[in-house]
Amino acid sequence: MTGFDYAIRTATIQDFTAVINRFTTAMMVSDNTTELDRELFEPDRTLVAEDAGSIVGVAQAFTRTLSVPGTVSPAAHVTGVAVAATHRRMGILSRIMRRQLAEVPEPVAVLWASQPGIYERFGYQASVYGHRFEAKLAEIRLTKAPVEGRLCELSVEQAASELPPILKRLQLDRPGVSGRSDQLWKQRLADPPERRDGRMPRQLIGYRSPEGDLEGYVFWRGTRQRGSDDGGNTVEVEELVAATGSAYRALWQHVLTMDLATRLVSWHAAVDEPVRQLVGNPRALGVRSYDALWLRIVDVAAALAQRRYACAVDVVLEVSDDILPANNRRFRLTGDRSTASCVETGDEPDLSLSVAELSGVYLGGRRLTEYAAVGRVHEHREGALAEVTTAMGWPVAPRSIEVF
Ligand SMILES: CC(C)(COP(=O)(O)OP(=O)(O)OC[C@H]1O[C@@H](n2cnc3c(N)ncnc32)[C@H](O)[C@@H]1OP(=O)(O)O)[C@@H](O)C(=O)NCCC(=O)NCCS
Repeated sequence: MTGFDYAIRTATIQDFTAVINRFTTAMMVSDNTTELDRELFEPDRTLVAEDAGSIVGVAQAFTRTLSVPGTVSPAAHVTGVAVAATHRRMGILSRIMRRQLAEVPEPVAVLWASQPGIYERFGYQASVYGHRFEAKLAEIRLTKAPVEGRLCELSVEQAASELPPILKRLQLDRPGVSGRSDQLWKQRLADPPERRDGRMPRQLIGYRSPEGDLEGYVFWRGTRQRGSDDGGNTVEVEELVAATGSAYRALWQHVLTMDLATRLVSWHAAVDEPVRQLVGNPRALGVRSYDALWLRIVDVAAALAQRRYACAVDVVLEVSDDILPANNRRFRLTGDRSTASCVETGDEPDLSLSVAELSGVYLGGRRLTEYAAVGRVHEHREGALAEVTTAMGWPVAPRSIEVF
């Protein structure tokens, strides 16, 4: 039997429970979805594969924004990808992914990969790398940094009304940041005891400037580390976002100097995270790198025209795309820090590459030269590779702050 025996269709709201069950079973976790998850479900953006009336495969996409160099773009946020263990390696996922890409209306699609070997074949590339810190707090030597404002505890209601503008500011400052609707903020701030895994309730801490403006926040919680060598507690930083340098310094100092804690664990830092400059011995932060956000350009012309470029560029790109034929052509890309255009052309190419390489460098965190070095980008005009590599870079590394 092959995967082509199974019908792929768009889900309906009635499929919600079966869709969630299929995914949670595949991920080997218990289903603790809430009414809010049901409200956020987008059935018309969910594809399911059916076998004799049972859902055996699923992939969801959520309508959100993503910051890209110089602007904020609509981006399909792909998640909930699963195929029943009884139906794997039959091509079901391949059919779902191809159909999903053909139907995505946004210029780009993004996802977090729980298994990194899956998505490259569909044109996705790890476009954002993240840093995880696992610090022994006793070894951290904080450098002296002035802080003018003050920290405060926030209620969930205060957080829901005051934090969204700070996240929007981060989107303007850094590529790779996913936007949140009011409903998504509600979901992010929910902290039901059954999802705490024995940890303390989430602490919502804000930083106010001397004028009283909220300029940053950190979500953290502590865990008692039973059986660890030092017997101490762990501070787990779930999200730290700061719109000003003062807020950034104050919030990091707060979590790095917590009483009764010996260890700090923090995910989702950028690879150029400035906290290293606050610590006299950055090695003590215990950095580990991982692939964070995977990105796939869906519409080359729209995606390249909407972002901005680190310097002036004028180049002809010959793009290949095995899945989306509309991308299989030559494009003239012109752009700089304030404008850009990308249109089909018949001119001779300066560079040839596939949509995957373009996707990898799209957010400015990776370099085309990395791909060229292994023969994945071909330069037809001397100098073109260096020009495009520089133009597609960005002054700050992209950062993805949440797994969705
Ligand atoms: C990953 C998963 C969705 C794949 O579904 P599937 O229907 O078996 O995939 P397909 O049969 O369409 O396989 C497509 C290709 O991916 C490869 N592949 C499938 N699962 C893979 C895995 N776990 N790791 C690496 N490659 C994998 C297949 O070998 C095939 O390769 P090919 O194109 O060279 O022939 C399924 O195995 C699953 O549900 N796993 C558990 C949940 C999970 O990991 N979800 C992903 C969350 S990000």
